[in-house]
Amino acid sequence: MAKIVKSSDGSELVASSQERLSGKELGTAVVTTDAFENPGLPPHRQRVTDTDPRRLARAARIVGWLFYLSIAGSLFTIFAYMFFPIEDGDTTSLRLSTLYIGLGSAFAMLAIGVAAVHWGKAVMADKEGVDERHPVRGTQATRDRAVEIFKEADEESGFSRRSLIRNGMIGAFVVFPLPAIALFRGLAPMDVDPNNELKHTFWKEGLRLTRDPTGVAIKASDMTIGSSVHVIPEGLAELPEHEKLDAKAKAAVLLVRLKPEDLKWTSEKRKGWSYDGIVAYSKICTHVGCPVALYEQQTHHLLCPCHQSQFDISNECKVIFGPAARPLPQLPITVDAEGYLVARSDFEEPVGPSFWEREK
Ligand code: FES
Repeated sequence: MAKIVKSSDGSELVASSQERLSGKELGTAVVTTDAFENPGLPPHRQRVTDTDPRRLARAARIVGWLFYLSIAGSLFTIFAYMFFPIEDGDTTSLRLSTLYIGLGSAFAMLAIGVAAVHWGKAVMADKEGVDERHPVRGTQATRDRAVEIFKEADEESGFSRRSLIRNGMIGAFVVFPLPAIALFRGLAPMDVDPNNELKHTFWKEGLRLTRDPTGVAIKASDMTIGSSVHVIPEGLAELPEHEKLDAKAKAAVLLVRLKPEDLKWTSEKRKGWSYDGIVAYSKICTHVGCPVALYEQQTHHLLCPCHQSQFDISNECKVIFGPAARPLPQLPITVDAEGYLVARSDFEEPVGPSFWEREK
């Protein structure tokens, strides 16, 4: 128990019982009589629409028209979807369709948002109110009655008694979502093993490294120290658009040239995957697959813009910061008889984020 004494200014001084038992009053805590007065609500300020009926009617008209504008935006979106279809392999149609659908839906949403805000701020009644807090716990009588109802329902439905129905129902609910797994499996290509697809890319032995997106082959002599080039495999640029995007999503590579003495290797084999300081690494982040393409020439670091993972190109692209768990896979390269950079093989490990069967 604490002993409370009044101080000269009216506040209360509290000494702990332990201190009094020991015979020494070591200290006191001040309990103020009242922390501060309730300041109440600020004075109500009237809006122009509260005092001028014509302004109020005008604001209401604006809100109404904004909703109609939103309807127009939605209809325009449907119109754009129907009359500006995406033609396979035609990037202009892709751009137009995306532009018009985006503009229509953005306009529709924006108009609803502006209308809602204007309605609330200018047209709806403007008054301050106080909602008193109340305990959320029910009274004991309510709680007892709830338990009673629960027991009655259990008794009447026979949920506890009729084990055949109960177990059947639980089983049905557990199995019910399983067809979704089978249906989602249907989204993966049926004629190929998706596991295999994830483990292999367009790269293979002898394919030249070419510039993205032009497909122009790159010679080792084109690469100066410190330069970096976005690379796709030879032949990828000529694929039909949808096949190209699928293939590029796995095969995109960043080619960088460093001084050979700046590169650290854990094995002679890895060293042989580079050519005179030129190294090629997958551009697909091992975290969740964003393109890692921000190259910092001074530090030799590669930055993924999505979640800031950083990889050290001079040290086998090991992760030095961020959520990525594995280094970027390296593409083994060399040069052909004409001096063009070519792949020695596909990547030796799957590129991109982890998946369950990755290590198998
Ligand atoms: Fe690269 Fe997340 S995708 S850090």
